[in-house]
Amino acid sequence: MQGRYIVTGGHPLAGEVMLQGAKNAVLPILAASLLCRRCQLLGCPDLTDVDSACHILEYLGCRTRREGDVLTTEFNGSGKSEIPAPLMEEMRSSIIFLSVMIARYHQAVISMPGGCQLGPRPIDYHLAALEKMGVQVRRDQGKLYCRCEGRLTGAQIALPFPSVGATETVLLAAVTARGETVLTNAAREPEIADLIGFLRRCGAKIRLCAGGDIAVEGVDRLEGCIYPVMADRIVLSTYLSLLAAAGGEICIRRGSREHNKAFCHLCETMGMRLWESGGDLYARVAGRLKSPGKVRTMPYPGFPTDSQPMFLAACTLAEGTSVFTETIFENRFGAAYELGKMGARINIADRIAIVEGVPALTAARLRCPDLRGGASLVVAAAAAEGSSTIEEIHHILRGYENFAPNLRGLGVDIIEERG
Ligand code: EPZ
Repeated sequence: MQGRYIVTGGHPLAGEVMLQGAKNAVLPILAASLLCRRCQLLGCPDLTDVDSACHILEYLGCRTRREGDVLTTEFNGSGKSEIPAPLMEEMRSSIIFLSVMIARYHQAVISMPGGCQLGPRPIDYHLAALEKMGVQVRRDQGKLYCRCEGRLTGAQIALPFPSVGATETVLLAAVTARGETVLTNAAREPEIADLIGFLRRCGAKIRLCAGGDIAVEGVDRLEGCIYPVMADRIVLSTYLSLLAAAGGEICIRRGSREHNKAFCHLCETMGMRLWESGGDLYARVAGRLKSPGKVRTMPYPGFPTDSQPMFLAACTLAEGTSVFTETIFENRFGAAYELGKMGARINIADRIAIVEGVPALTAARLRCPDLRGGASLVVAAAAAEGSSTIEEIHHILRGYENFAPNLRGLGVDIIEERG
């Protein structure tokens, strides 16, 4: 499905938007639902990545049904333990289903998840952890054949890097394993805490130890639960980046600084005003913002890599020079070339981007390189003089629910053309 946006920028924002449920919380929770009997997720965002996860769940033996923003999953007793390549390719993060397939069926066959625009995306931490828990892994013709004699076994797992996905793999393998698992150097992203909250409500025994270790005592089975999905902190940072670029005043319903402290701090050092009231986040920008100086992406609670592309787009218009260091992914400045077409001045050397602020951007014909790179083009177009065309918007629809109508609610002049 091809589609494009026509964005006409050059005027300040004014309006409000309801913050969607978090994509990166709901995807591992959907994987976890394969271990349960019946679950209901409240505030589940309507995204193509969620659709892909539901296609995989149906294939693995879980019926899924959406009624508005409530998604119900129900395990029907049998399913496949192999995800065919086309389904794997629909969603890069489908690796999250590997551990639950093994926990449920004692075996799993998946095609090696390809790299993506951000870099090779290896899964060595996931596989090393699963092998310590009793899984035999065999590679053949680009496929991974995994099997485990009986139940997975709890183990002491230390991650070389606080990988979000590998932390989720270990948690999902450990909750119904035999014995205890202790995970060291786990990721601390809020979406991990949301997954733990969901698993505990389903009957899992998970303890947060001093120093950040996570201890899991395996149980025989998980029941299921009704669970409200957390708000999406990366979408919130997208809206604040839009405001930083275009100026004006907005309200983000369900928004807060919580989970966004590093990002909000940089916005305020640039001159943005932020305040919370009645469970919502208000923000105002009057006049040209100042460069934030150095921006370095880090694991949580540091500045999030997912917010970097949209924030960089806003910094192309700030007064002064900003220096971005991307420490998480090899290649996350994909949109810089497209932003250059609009008059942005960005110099890249490996994982460093030097952004020299310019007083104005001009509209251009643009193409989304990936999910957050695409969102960064919308941020720039909403501030640029004239009408920009943004192609390949299917990347954006993976992670942003009702993106064009929500942006219109904030005062962005955006039209979506399908086909
Ligand atoms: C999750 O990806 C998110 N995706 C990403 O969001 C996010 O950017 C990333 O975490 C970091 O916060 C989902 O939650 C679905 P990692 P994930 O494992 O789990 C290396 C978005 O825009 N690594 O923390 O894949 C890896 O190459 C997406 O919503 C290994 O070397 O991220 C990377 O350099 C993009 N071996 C670093 O760790 C492994 O086995 C961080 O990756 C696993 C990871």
